[in-house]
Amino acid sequence: MDKRETIQKTEQYVRSLLENDASGHDWWHIDRVRRMGITLAKKEGADEFIVEMAALLHDVADEKIAGNEEKGLSAVTSWLEQMPLSNDDKEHIIDIISSVSFKGGHGKKPHTIEGMVVQDADRLDAIGAIGIARTFMYAGSRGHLMHDPFLPYREKITKEEYRHGRSTAINHFYEKLLKLKEWMNTESAKQIALKRHQFMERFLHQFYQEWDEQYENVN
Ligand code: ADP
Ligand code: NI
Repeated sequence: MDKRETIQKTEQYVRSLLENDASGHDWWHIDRVRRMGITLAKKEGADEFIVEMAALLHDVADEKIAGNEEKGLSAVTSWLEQMPLSNDDKEHIIDIISSVSFKGGHGKKPHTIEGMVVQDADRLDAIGAIGIARTFMYAGSRGHLMHDPFLPYREKITKEEYRHGRSTAINHFYEKLLKLKEWMNTESAKQIALKRHQFMERFLHQFYQEWDEQYENVN
């Protein structure tokens, strides 16, 4: 099995796992992260094979899919065992996935350029027009409101508040999305992030404008 086949087999495996996923980790998210990962890898001189493999597998270890993080990571490990990879490559891919996909690892800086590229690609998919769309999909799936003008913006939401619907899609921008451009590891990702960030600011501006117009018309 050569590298191309290893990628193809891994792609099939991930597709079949995510087929029925409704938690915002559908196959097309994985495919975008993989493609963005390869683009960034070329610019940053990172190993494209490692980046593509880690991008394909990055959400398999997510607790929303695997049940919990340990189960997810052992699924990734057993998958990699079946692939013709060197031990170094296997360990490298696992290391990337544990810093990129884990909840606790979201703020953790990856150890290698390949890890930085995959983390940047995943974060770029959370901003811009697609990031906005994903946010409203996610909020809808959790039964959150789109916006609540009486809810003060908060940068931190507790689990309790989530459970009681005290979070909104709009609040997620302040909690996370507007911060992501500062969190990019690579210069190439920072450039893309800036454009996507500016689009989110325009979106929010127009959103509030339309919202406020309704009240002005009535009074
Ligand atoms: P990933 O690591 O692939 O970005 P996440 O589980 O962190 O996956 O998020 C999936 C998508 O849902 C992202 O676009 C993210 O911004 C969005 N999201 C996560 N939490 C919330 C939330 N509380 N409200 C709205 N959108 C959210
Ligand atoms: Ni992801």
